[in-house]
Amino acid sequence: MSRCRVCSAAVREFLDFGRQPLSSAFRSPGETAEEFRFRLAVGICESCTMVQLLEEVPQARRAHQGYPYHSSGSVVMREHFERTARRLLSTELSGGDPLFVEIGCNDGVVLGTVAAAGVRQLAFEPSGEAAGRVHRAFFDAASAREVRAAEGPADVVYAANTLCDVADIAAVLQGAEVLLAPDGVLVFEDPYLGEIIERTSFDQIYDEHFYYFTARSVLAMARRSGFDLVDVEHLPVHGGQIRYTLARAGRRPPTAAVAELLAEEEARRLTAPETLDGFAATVGTIRTDLVKLLGRLTEEGHRLVGYGATAKSSTVLNYCGIGPELVPVVCDSTPSKQGRLTPGAGIPVVPPQAFSAPYPDYAVLFAWNHAEEIMAKERAFREAGGRWILYVPDVHIV
Ligand code: TYD
Ligand code: ZN
Repeated sequence: MSRCRVCSAAVREFLDFGRQPLSSAFRSPGETAEEFRFRLAVGICESCTMVQLLEEVPQARRAHQGYPYHSSGSVVMREHFERTARRLLSTELSGGDPLFVEIGCNDGVVLGTVAAAGVRQLAFEPSGEAAGRVHRAFFDAASAREVRAAEGPADVVYAANTLCDVADIAAVLQGAEVLLAPDGVLVFEDPYLGEIIERTSFDQIYDEHFYYFTARSVLAMARRSGFDLVDVEHLPVHGGQIRYTLARAGRRPPTAAVAELLAEEEARRLTAPETLDGFAATVGTIRTDLVKLLGRLTEEGHRLVGYGATAKSSTVLNYCGIGPELVPVVCDSTPSKQGRLTPGAGIPVVPPQAFSAPYPDYAVLFAWNHAEEIMAKERAFREAGGRWILYVPDVHIV
């Protein structure tokens, strides 16, 4: 039986995707070594309700030896992070020489914006890929103590699409306890279980998303570590996320949004067994429908491609057993993915210029979280008669 990584109680499994490769382990065409696989299965803690993977990928097996590095190539995401940084700068700083800390650093947009505002900033990132002021370590009590000794307390510790990946998340909260000023905040944004269930966006489930947070589970986790959940905010990015703000217990009254979200989760029975089992059943239906549709279109002689070699697509392709026979190539703007094969499924990744030369009949939009931006950019595809295939919240053609 699996134990909860937050509270050690029993975890009940509700969805098993089988043995999956690592979502960011793109392969060179000539590579022959067997791909690492692990069992991708999700369960819920019967005590604190934290939804989590049952198996953790060991650090040494990971594609990145650090926090996941996301370069979404999206203008919308760039703007989102600039806005986020400016907001935190205007609401959360105190004293003469405040300190803004980020765990991981993604595209560097947040800390770049903070630095441009003349505010002291620092990233915790062990992998060595990051530019700027970097403390080369994972964020925990020991590394937080080192930084606190050198830099003083932090006003903000911020993390985007990072904490959900850290199985030992208790260590992060301990680090925040060490590093934050008395009125400092830990702010993090990650995929929201409520949205994943709502949209049946099962492709949010992959190796780099260990936790699937709710207000209820984050509140329980915060309280175990001397923090309180003082704010929540819906974010319209990556298919629906929540930004959680944690403050030291008793230092800041929670906003009304916290009680509202807790009540909403309760009313829709978000973590009830029938909800989670129903989600798992719908995921199975999507698999059947998608494989059937792609098979039929291919048989009819239509040309198909994939769009966006996302981490999410790894779950879809490998869980559905879709390979190059159904989706011969995936277009993606990330230079480091181009010329390589998608993990497991082994579909060649080609640059976006290949999309129009000539346009395919159908494109499976694996980067559906950027649908608006991509469909606007690729308007000529639809005008030429092309159609998008989406599989969230169900399989449909637009
Ligand atoms: P991302 O949003 O980070 O999703 P995930 O976390 O599931 O990997 O990835 C988006 C991918 O889509 C990334 O590989 C870049 C690609 N992309 C394009 O090819 N064209 C575009 O216009 C955009 C916005 C993204
Ligand atoms: Zn638990």
